[in-house]
Amino acid sequence: MMSKTKIFLGFIDKTAVYMFTLTNLNGMTAEVTNFGATIISITVPDSKGKFEDVVLGCDKLENYLSQKSYFGATIGRFSNRIEDSKFEVDGIEYKLAKNDGENHLHGGTKGFDKVVWQAELLNEKSSESLELSYLSKDGEEGYPGNLTVKVKYTLTEENQLKIDYYAICDKDTVVNLTNHSYFNLSGQDSGNILKHKVMINANEFTVNDKNSIPTGEIRTVKGTPMDFTKLTEIGKNISSSYEQITFGKGYDHNWVLDISGKSPEKAAEVYDEETGRVMEVFTTKPGIQFYSGNFLDGSEIGKGGVHYEKRSGLCLETQYFPNSIKHKHFPSPILRAGEEYEHTTIYKFSTRI
Ligand code: BGC
Repeated sequence: MMSKTKIFLGFIDKTAVYMFTLTNLNGMTAEVTNFGATIISITVPDSKGKFEDVVLGCDKLENYLSQKSYFGATIGRFSNRIEDSKFEVDGIEYKLAKNDGENHLHGGTKGFDKVVWQAELLNEKSSESLELSYLSKDGEEGYPGNLTVKVKYTLTEENQLKIDYYAICDKDTVVNLTNHSYFNLSGQDSGNILKHKVMINANEFTVNDKNSIPTGEIRTVKGTPMDFTKLTEIGKNISSSYEQITFGKGYDHNWVLDISGKSPEKAAEVYDEETGRVMEVFTTKPGIQFYSGNFLDGSEIGKGGVHYEKRSGLCLETQYFPNSIKHKHFPSPILRAGEEYEHTTIYKFSTRI
């Protein structure tokens, strides 16, 4: 049955935190909490109809508070890195929190992943939706302007989890929102993702320096281990001596998507031969960060008590390019006062034998 439920988890910052469950007619479920607008679980069938939870996450609210891997979370105000933790808009400099050496990562020390959002279950005819909203105040983590942000999760009958992002600010600012779910299509507790195959709809990627900051160079994937234009096993080249791979300790880069950005278009696909599960990613955003979970080290305790080891999940984070505020030839992440930021990303699940 198509349904929605709401369970109280506890209080954080004196605000009630809940877990919401969206269920569609096929039995697919998505659990989301208003702490960090975080996806807790997604259960989908394999090719034999067996349901499994395919995202990494935690059992307890306190583990979400302490975890440092951004499991399932909404990232903001700016996804990924900003070099030297500062940027300029029209000659005005803004200093941001430093939380990755000298650099700023995923919105700072208390990003959108660590705050409590307001939640509203929506009654829409053919789908199940949850809308989460948050007011990020002027100066929060160093960013200018009061930013109202909304993230709407919709579970459709086509086994899609659709995420609509919206933001508006009263000053010129930068915005780059994404979701940081780690997927493992064999199941969240099933080991590493090296045998998963990935396709990314991109002929180019942004080259990083050794601190994972885009240098501004855009390079063809052709003839490199970054070529995912066809479904390719993640493990195939992950130990390559190609400098970009050694810098990232595996895949941790932004690909320049070959899509128009007008309506959601296919950006990536993941295929797990073992279970037949397929995940397609559609988006309106210009880039995608493919992160192969290189920094997971067994210290995070996940659902059912599992220790998430290196590469036990992969992220496909749709986004403006990291550090895009520093490179004029990258699509601009500037949101002018009163302008509306609107993006959509869809994770669609199916099976293939
Ligand atoms: C980044 C990684 C970072 C990770 C944190 C990813 O989006 O690209 O460099 O370590 O998030 O979990």
